[in-house]
Amino acid sequence: MANLRTEFAGLKLKNPVMPAAGPPIKDARAAVKAKEGGAGAIVTKTISTTAAEVPRPNMARVKNGFLNTELWSELPPEKWFNEEYPKIKKLGLPVIAGIGYTKDQIKSLAKKVEKYADALELSTHYLGDDTTPMEESIKAAKEEVEIPVFVKLSPQIDIPEFADAAEKAGADGIVLINSFGPTLDINPETGKPLMGSENGFGWLSGEAIFPLALRSVYQAAKNVDIPVIGVGGIDSGIKVAKMFMAGASAVQVCTEAIVNGPHVYEKINNELNNFLDKNNYQNLKDIQGLTAKVMQKEANYDTIVPTVIKENCTTCGLCVTSCVYEAISFNESNDYIVIDPQKCEGCGLCITRCNFNALELE
Ligand SMILES: Cc1cc2nc3c(=O)[nH]c(=O)nc-3n(C[C@H](O)[C@H](O)[C@H](O)COP(=O)(O)O)c2cc1C
Repeated sequence: MANLRTEFAGLKLKNPVMPAAGPPIKDARAAVKAKEGGAGAIVTKTISTTAAEVPRPNMARVKNGFLNTELWSELPPEKWFNEEYPKIKKLGLPVIAGIGYTKDQIKSLAKKVEKYADALELSTHYLGDDTTPMEESIKAAKEEVEIPVFVKLSPQIDIPEFADAAEKAGADGIVLINSFGPTLDINPETGKPLMGSENGFGWLSGEAIFPLALRSVYQAAKNVDIPVIGVGGIDSGIKVAKMFMAGASAVQVCTEAIVNGPHVYEKINNELNNFLDKNNYQNLKDIQGLTAKVMQKEANYDTIVPTVIKENCTTCGLCVTSCVYEAISFNESNDYIVIDPQKCEGCGLCITRCNFNALELE
Protein backbone atom coordinates (compact mmCIF):
# COMPACT_ATOMS: atom_id res chain seq x y z
CA MET A 1 0.00 0.00 0.00
CA ALA A 2 1.64 3.24 -1.14
CA ASN A 3 1.62 6.35 1.01
CA LEU A 4 -0.79 8.89 -0.51
CA ARG A 5 -0.08 11.67 1.96
CA THR A 6 0.89 15.05 0.62
CA GLU A 7 1.90 18.30 2.26
CA PHE A 8 1.98 21.78 0.76
CA ALA A 9 2.02 25.31 2.18
CA GLY A 10 1.77 23.78 5.66
CA LEU A 11 -1.43 21.83 4.85
CA LYS A 12 -1.27 18.11 5.57
CA LEU A 13 -3.57 15.89 3.50
CA LYS A 14 -4.07 12.14 3.96
CA ASN A 15 -4.59 11.91 0.20
CA PRO A 16 -4.06 14.40 -2.65
CA VAL A 17 -7.57 14.40 -4.19
CA MET A 18 -9.84 17.35 -3.35
CA PRO A 19 -13.07 18.64 -4.84
CA ALA A 20 -12.65 21.73 -7.06
CA ALA A 21 -14.81 24.81 -6.56
CA GLY A 22 -18.15 24.03 -8.18
CA PRO A 23 -21.45 22.20 -7.60
CA PRO A 24 -19.89 19.15 -5.85
CA ILE A 25 -18.92 21.50 -3.04
CA LYS A 26 -21.72 24.04 -3.18
CA ASP A 27 -22.62 23.90 0.54
CA ALA A 28 -21.97 22.04 3.80
CA ARG A 29 -24.19 19.11 2.81
CA ALA A 30 -22.08 18.59 -0.32
CA ALA A 31 -18.90 18.87 1.78
CA VAL A 32 -20.12 16.03 4.04
CA LYS A 33 -20.63 13.88 0.93
CA ALA A 34 -17.18 14.80 -0.39
CA LYS A 35 -15.64 13.71 2.92
CA GLU A 36 -17.61 10.44 2.88
CA GLY A 37 -16.53 9.99 -0.73
CA GLY A 38 -12.86 10.04 0.28
CA ALA A 39 -11.67 13.60 -0.42
CA GLY A 40 -8.35 14.53 1.23
CA ALA A 41 -9.42 18.15 1.87
CA ILE A 42 -12.40 20.38 1.24
CA VAL A 43 -12.25 23.25 -1.26
CA THR A 44 -15.41 25.34 -1.01
CA LYS A 45 -17.34 26.87 -3.90
CA THR A 46 -16.15 30.42 -4.62
CA ILE A 47 -18.18 33.02 -2.75
CA SER A 48 -18.36 36.71 -3.49
CA THR A 49 -19.86 39.72 -1.73
CA THR A 50 -23.31 38.94 -3.16
CA ALA A 51 -25.10 35.76 -4.21
CA ALA A 52 -24.63 34.95 -7.91
CA GLU A 53 -27.58 35.07 -10.25
CA VAL A 54 -26.91 32.38 -12.84
CA PRO A 55 -28.39 31.90 -16.30
CA ARG A 56 -30.21 28.60 -16.90
CA PRO A 57 -29.61 26.04 -18.32
CA ASN A 58 -26.05 26.32 -17.03
CA MET A 59 -24.59 22.79 -17.23
CA ALA A 60 -24.38 20.27 -20.05
CA ARG A 61 -22.51 17.02 -20.63
CA VAL A 62 -20.85 17.14 -24.06
CA LYS A 63 -18.65 14.49 -25.67
CA ASN A 64 -15.44 14.17 -23.64
CA GLY A 65 -16.27 17.26 -21.68
CA PHE A 66 -18.73 19.49 -19.93
CA LEU A 67 -20.04 23.01 -20.49
CA ASN A 68 -21.09 25.41 -17.79
CA THR A 69 -22.09 28.98 -17.42
CA GLU A 70 -22.23 29.01 -13.63
CA LEU A 71 -20.71 31.89 -11.73
CA TRP A 72 -19.75 31.90 -8.06
CA SER A 73 -21.96 30.61 -5.21
CA GLU A 74 -25.68 31.26 -5.45
CA LEU A 75 -25.80 31.46 -1.65
CA PRO A 76 -25.29 34.88 -0.05
CA PRO A 77 -22.03 35.23 1.91
CA GLU A 78 -23.96 35.57 5.22
CA LYS A 79 -25.36 32.05 4.75
CA TRP A 80 -21.83 30.76 4.31
CA PHE A 81 -20.62 32.56 7.46
CA ASN A 82 -23.61 31.59 9.62
CA GLU A 83 -24.34 28.07 8.42
CA GLU A 84 -22.11 26.46 5.78
CA TYR A 85 -18.54 27.29 6.90
CA PRO A 86 -19.07 26.39 10.60
CA LYS A 87 -20.41 22.96 9.58
CA ILE A 88 -17.62 22.42 7.06
CA LYS A 89 -14.97 23.37 9.62
CA LYS A 90 -16.31 20.66 11.97
CA LEU A 91 -15.62 17.95 9.38
CA GLY A 92 -11.97 17.98 10.47
CA LEU A 93 -10.42 18.01 6.99
CA PRO A 94 -8.18 20.87 5.81
CA VAL A 95 -10.43 23.58 4.31
CA ILE A 96 -9.45 25.75 1.35
CA ALA A 97 -12.08 28.47 1.02
CA GLY A 98 -12.76 29.91 -2.43
CA ILE A 99 -13.37 33.65 -2.65
CA GLY A 100 -13.53 36.07 -5.58
CA TYR A 101 -13.31 38.07 -7.75
CA THR A 102 -12.02 41.67 -7.60
CA LYS A 103 -9.42 42.94 -5.17
CA ASP A 104 -12.04 44.94 -3.28
CA GLN A 105 -14.38 41.96 -2.98
CA ILE A 106 -11.48 39.77 -1.88
CA LYS A 107 -10.38 42.38 0.66
CA SER A 108 -13.82 42.60 2.22
CA LEU A 109 -14.25 38.79 2.44
CA ALA A 110 -10.79 37.45 3.33
CA LYS A 111 -10.70 38.24 7.07
CA LYS A 112 -14.25 36.98 7.66
CA VAL A 113 -13.49 33.67 5.92
CA GLU A 114 -10.13 33.16 7.64
CA LYS A 115 -11.46 31.68 10.88
CA TYR A 116 -13.15 28.84 9.02
CA ALA A 117 -10.33 28.03 6.61
CA ASP A 118 -6.78 26.66 6.50
CA ALA A 119 -6.07 28.48 3.23
CA LEU A 120 -7.78 30.80 0.76
CA GLU A 121 -8.21 30.14 -2.95
CA LEU A 122 -8.67 33.33 -4.96
CA SER A 123 -10.68 32.56 -8.03
CA THR A 124 -9.84 34.65 -11.06
CA HIS A 125 -10.93 34.69 -14.63
CA TYR A 126 -8.12 36.80 -15.97
CA LEU A 127 -7.49 36.53 -19.67
CA GLY A 128 -5.00 38.59 -21.61
CA ASP A 129 -1.56 39.84 -20.61
CA ASP A 130 -2.02 42.13 -17.65
CA THR A 131 -0.90 40.50 -14.40
CA THR A 132 -1.79 43.60 -12.33
CA PRO A 133 -5.36 42.65 -11.25
CA MET A 134 -4.10 39.22 -10.11
CA GLU A 135 -1.20 40.76 -8.17
CA GLU A 136 -3.52 43.28 -6.52
CA SER A 137 -5.93 40.51 -5.47
CA ILE A 138 -3.12 38.44 -3.96
CA LYS A 139 -1.72 41.45 -2.10
CA ALA A 140 -5.18 42.44 -0.85
CA ALA A 141 -5.72 38.95 0.59
CA LYS A 142 -2.21 38.70 2.05
CA GLU A 143 -2.71 42.00 3.90
CA GLU A 144 -5.85 40.64 5.54
CA VAL A 145 -4.98 37.07 6.54
CA GLU A 146 -2.26 34.94 8.09
CA ILE A 147 -3.30 31.68 6.38
CA PRO A 148 -1.80 30.66 2.98
CA VAL A 149 -3.29 32.31 -0.09
CA PHE A 150 -3.55 30.32 -3.33
CA VAL A 151 -4.49 31.89 -6.64
CA LYS A 152 -6.51 29.96 -9.21
CA LEU A 153 -5.81 30.84 -12.83
CA SER A 154 -7.39 30.44 -16.23
CA PRO A 155 -5.37 28.55 -18.87
CA GLN A 156 -5.68 31.43 -21.36
CA ILE A 157 -2.73 33.40 -20.07
CA ASP A 158 1.04 33.22 -20.33
CA ILE A 159 1.52 30.64 -17.59
CA PRO A 160 5.21 31.26 -16.75
CA GLU A 161 4.63 35.02 -16.62
CA PHE A 162 1.53 34.82 -14.43
CA ALA A 163 3.02 32.10 -12.19
CA ASP A 164 6.12 34.19 -11.66
CA ALA A 165 4.07 37.34 -10.94
CA ALA A 166 1.84 35.42 -8.51
CA GLU A 167 4.84 34.14 -6.59
CA LYS A 168 6.40 37.62 -6.44
CA ALA A 169 3.08 39.12 -5.25
CA GLY A 170 3.20 36.72 -2.28
CA ALA A 171 0.96 33.82 -3.33
CA ASP A 172 1.60 30.63 -1.36
CA GLY A 173 0.40 28.36 -4.17
CA ILE A 174 -1.10 28.32 -7.65
CA VAL A 175 -4.17 26.36 -8.74
CA LEU A 176 -4.34 25.51 -12.46
CA ILE A 177 -6.67 25.49 -14.39
CA ASN A 178 -10.09 27.08 -14.37
CA SER A 179 -12.47 26.03 -17.15
CA PHE A 180 -11.60 26.99 -20.75
CA GLY A 181 -13.55 29.25 -23.06
CA PRO A 182 -15.75 30.73 -24.09
CA THR A 183 -17.11 27.75 -26.04
CA LEU A 184 -20.41 26.92 -27.74
CA ASP A 185 -22.56 23.84 -28.28
CA ILE A 186 -25.93 23.67 -30.02
CA ASN A 187 -29.02 21.49 -29.79
CA PRO A 188 -29.33 20.16 -33.38
CA GLU A 189 -33.10 19.76 -33.06
CA THR A 190 -33.65 23.46 -32.46
CA GLY A 191 -30.42 25.22 -33.43
CA LYS A 192 -30.42 26.84 -30.00
CA PRO A 193 -27.34 26.95 -27.76
CA LEU A 194 -27.21 24.50 -24.84
CA MET A 195 -26.36 27.27 -22.39
CA GLY A 196 -28.85 29.89 -21.27
CA SER A 197 -26.23 32.65 -21.06
CA GLU A 198 -26.72 35.91 -22.95
CA ASN A 199 -24.75 34.73 -26.00
CA GLY A 200 -25.19 30.99 -25.39
CA PHE A 201 -21.50 30.63 -24.61
CA GLY A 202 -20.20 28.35 -21.85
CA TRP A 203 -16.92 27.19 -20.34
CA LEU A 204 -15.37 23.82 -21.09
CA SER A 205 -14.14 21.39 -18.42
CA GLY A 206 -13.67 17.62 -18.08
CA GLU A 207 -11.57 15.11 -20.06
CA ALA A 208 -11.04 17.44 -23.03
CA ILE A 209 -9.03 19.97 -21.02
CA PHE A 210 -6.73 17.51 -19.23
CA PRO A 211 -3.73 17.97 -21.58
CA LEU A 212 -4.14 21.75 -21.31
CA ALA A 213 -4.20 21.51 -17.53
CA LEU A 214 -1.19 19.18 -17.48
CA ARG A 215 0.88 21.51 -19.66
CA SER A 216 -0.12 24.49 -17.51
CA VAL A 217 0.86 22.70 -14.29
CA TYR A 218 4.16 21.56 -15.81
CA GLN A 219 5.05 25.09 -16.94
CA ALA A 220 4.07 26.70 -13.64
CA ALA A 221 5.89 24.10 -11.53
CA LYS A 222 9.06 24.62 -13.57
CA ASN A 223 8.93 28.38 -13.06
CA VAL A 224 8.09 28.81 -9.38
CA ASP A 225 9.05 27.39 -6.00
CA ILE A 226 5.57 27.62 -4.50
CA PRO A 227 3.29 24.54 -4.73
CA VAL A 228 1.06 24.00 -7.75
CA ILE A 229 -2.33 22.28 -7.48
CA GLY A 230 -3.56 20.56 -10.65
CA VAL A 231 -7.18 20.65 -11.81
CA GLY A 232 -8.86 19.99 -15.14
CA GLY A 233 -10.17 16.72 -16.53
CA ILE A 234 -8.97 14.48 -13.71
CA ASP A 235 -11.10 11.33 -13.59
CA SER A 236 -8.63 8.58 -12.71
CA GLY A 237 -5.66 7.72 -10.53
CA ILE A 238 -3.37 7.63 -13.57
CA LYS A 239 -4.24 11.26 -14.29
CA VAL A 240 -3.36 12.20 -10.71
CA ALA A 241 -0.02 10.43 -11.17
CA LYS A 242 0.55 12.41 -14.39
CA MET A 243 -0.25 15.66 -12.56
CA PHE A 244 2.35 14.81 -9.89
CA MET A 245 4.87 13.90 -12.60
CA ALA A 246 4.21 17.35 -14.12
CA GLY A 247 5.04 18.85 -10.71
CA ALA A 248 1.71 19.14 -8.85
CA SER A 249 1.51 18.83 -5.06
CA ALA A 250 -2.20 17.92 -5.01
CA VAL A 251 -5.19 17.81 -7.35
CA GLN A 252 -8.80 18.92 -7.53
CA VAL A 253 -11.74 17.30 -9.30
CA CYS A 254 -14.96 19.00 -10.41
CA THR A 255 -16.58 17.57 -13.58
CA GLU A 256 -16.00 13.92 -12.67
CA ALA A 257 -17.59 14.50 -9.26
CA ILE A 258 -20.60 16.20 -10.89
CA VAL A 259 -21.09 13.47 -13.50
CA ASN A 260 -20.37 10.39 -11.38
CA GLY A 261 -21.06 11.54 -7.84
CA PRO A 262 -19.07 12.19 -4.68
CA HIS A 263 -17.65 8.66 -4.31
CA VAL A 264 -15.18 9.43 -7.15
CA TYR A 265 -12.44 10.68 -4.79
CA GLU A 266 -12.08 7.24 -3.23
CA LYS A 267 -12.14 5.53 -6.64
CA ILE A 268 -9.42 7.88 -7.92
CA ASN A 269 -7.31 7.35 -4.78
CA ASN A 270 -7.61 3.56 -5.11
CA GLU A 271 -6.46 3.74 -8.72
CA LEU A 272 -3.58 6.03 -7.74
CA ASN A 273 -2.53 3.60 -5.03
CA ASN A 274 -2.66 0.66 -7.49
CA PHE A 275 -0.55 2.60 -9.99
CA LEU A 276 2.09 3.46 -7.39
CA ASP A 277 2.17 -0.11 -6.04
CA LYS A 278 2.41 -1.65 -9.50
CA ASN A 279 5.37 0.55 -10.37
CA ASN A 280 7.10 0.13 -7.00
CA TYR A 281 6.74 3.75 -5.95
CA GLN A 282 6.48 4.17 -2.18
CA ASN A 283 4.89 7.60 -2.14
CA LEU A 284 3.95 10.62 -4.24
CA LYS A 285 7.33 12.31 -3.76
CA ASP A 286 8.82 9.48 -5.86
CA ILE A 287 6.98 10.74 -8.94
CA GLN A 288 6.60 14.46 -8.22
CA GLY A 289 8.43 16.49 -10.88
CA LEU A 290 9.60 13.37 -12.74
CA THR A 291 8.73 14.72 -16.19
CA ALA A 292 11.03 17.76 -15.92
CA LYS A 293 13.92 15.36 -15.21
CA VAL A 294 13.31 13.15 -18.25
CA MET A 295 12.06 15.80 -20.70
CA GLN A 296 13.96 15.72 -23.99
CA LYS A 297 16.28 18.68 -24.58
CA GLU A 298 15.50 18.87 -28.28
CA ALA A 299 12.82 17.63 -30.67
CA ASN A 300 13.48 14.19 -32.20
CA TYR A 301 13.36 13.93 -36.02
CA ASP A 302 14.43 10.28 -36.40
CA THR A 303 11.81 7.68 -37.31
CA ILE A 304 11.42 5.11 -34.55
CA VAL A 305 9.39 2.09 -35.69
CA PRO A 306 7.32 0.67 -32.79
CA THR A 307 8.02 -2.87 -31.61
CA VAL A 308 5.09 -5.33 -31.68
CA ILE A 309 4.65 -7.45 -28.55
CA LYS A 310 2.98 -10.38 -30.32
CA GLU A 311 1.62 -12.10 -27.24
CA ASN A 312 -0.33 -8.93 -26.25
CA CYS A 313 -1.85 -8.37 -29.71
CA THR A 314 -5.55 -9.29 -29.95
CA THR A 315 -5.76 -8.40 -33.70
CA CYS A 316 -8.52 -5.93 -32.84
CA GLY A 317 -7.34 -3.90 -35.84
CA LEU A 318 -7.62 -0.39 -34.34
CA CYS A 319 -3.99 0.38 -35.24
CA VAL A 320 -4.46 -1.02 -38.79
CA THR A 321 -7.50 1.20 -39.41
CA SER A 322 -5.90 4.40 -38.15
CA CYS A 323 -2.45 3.97 -39.73
CA VAL A 324 -2.57 6.72 -42.37
CA TYR A 325 0.71 5.39 -43.86
CA GLU A 326 -0.77 1.91 -44.43
CA ALA A 327 2.25 0.48 -42.65
CA ILE A 328 0.38 -1.96 -40.39
CA SER A 329 -1.22 -5.24 -41.46
CA PHE A 330 -2.02 -8.66 -39.99
CA ASN A 331 0.48 -11.51 -40.27
CA GLU A 332 -0.39 -14.40 -42.59
CA SER A 333 -2.11 -16.52 -39.96
CA ASN A 334 -3.95 -13.46 -38.61
CA ASP A 335 -2.77 -13.74 -35.01
CA TYR A 336 -0.79 -10.52 -34.59
CA ILE A 337 0.05 -7.34 -36.49
CA VAL A 338 3.25 -6.54 -38.36
CA ILE A 339 4.71 -3.12 -39.20
CA ASP A 340 6.41 -2.43 -42.51
CA PRO A 341 9.50 -0.36 -41.57
CA GLN A 342 9.67 1.01 -45.13
CA LYS A 343 6.22 2.57 -44.81
CA CYS A 344 6.20 3.47 -41.09
CA GLU A 345 6.82 7.19 -40.53
CA GLY A 346 7.23 6.82 -36.76
CA CYS A 347 4.23 9.05 -36.02
CA GLY A 348 3.47 7.04 -32.86
CA LEU A 349 -0.32 7.07 -33.21
CA CYS A 350 -0.66 3.27 -33.17
CA ILE A 351 0.88 3.08 -29.70
CA THR A 352 -1.88 5.28 -28.32
CA ARG A 353 -4.61 3.44 -30.29
CA CYS A 354 -3.67 0.08 -28.78
CA ASN A 355 -5.61 -0.86 -25.64
CA PHE A 356 -3.53 -3.98 -24.94
CA ASN A 357 0.07 -2.70 -24.64
CA ALA A 358 0.99 -4.60 -27.80
CA LEU A 359 3.05 -1.74 -29.24
CA GLU A 360 5.94 0.10 -27.67
CA LEU A 361 8.80 2.38 -28.54
CA GLU A 362 12.24 1.00 -27.79
C1 LIG B 1 -20.52 23.84 -13.05
C2 LIG B 1 -19.16 24.36 -12.68
C3 LIG B 1 -19.05 25.39 -11.74
C4 LIG B 1 -17.80 25.91 -11.40
N1 LIG B 1 -17.70 26.89 -10.44
C5 LIG B 1 -16.48 27.39 -10.10
C6 LIG B 1 -16.35 28.36 -9.08
O1 LIG B 1 -17.31 28.77 -8.42
N2 LIG B 1 -15.11 28.84 -8.84
C7 LIG B 1 -14.00 28.41 -9.50
O2 LIG B 1 -12.90 28.87 -9.24
N3 LIG B 1 -14.10 27.44 -10.45
C8 LIG B 1 -15.30 26.93 -10.76
N4 LIG B 1 -15.40 25.94 -11.70
C9 LIG B 1 -14.17 25.44 -12.34
C10 LIG B 1 -13.69 24.14 -11.67
O3 LIG B 1 -13.37 24.35 -10.32
C11 LIG B 1 -12.46 23.57 -12.38
O4 LIG B 1 -11.40 24.49 -12.31
C12 LIG B 1 -12.72 23.23 -13.84
O5 LIG B 1 -14.03 22.76 -14.03
C13 LIG B 1 -11.74 22.19 -14.38
O6 LIG B 1 -11.79 21.00 -13.60
P1 LIG B 1 -12.67 19.70 -14.04
O7 LIG B 1 -12.29 19.36 -15.44
O8 LIG B 1 -12.31 18.65 -13.03
O9 LIG B 1 -14.09 20.10 -13.95
C14 LIG B 1 -16.63 25.40 -12.02
C15 LIG B 1 -16.76 24.37 -12.96
C16 LIG B 1 -18.00 23.84 -13.29
C17 LIG B 1 -18.07 22.70 -14.28
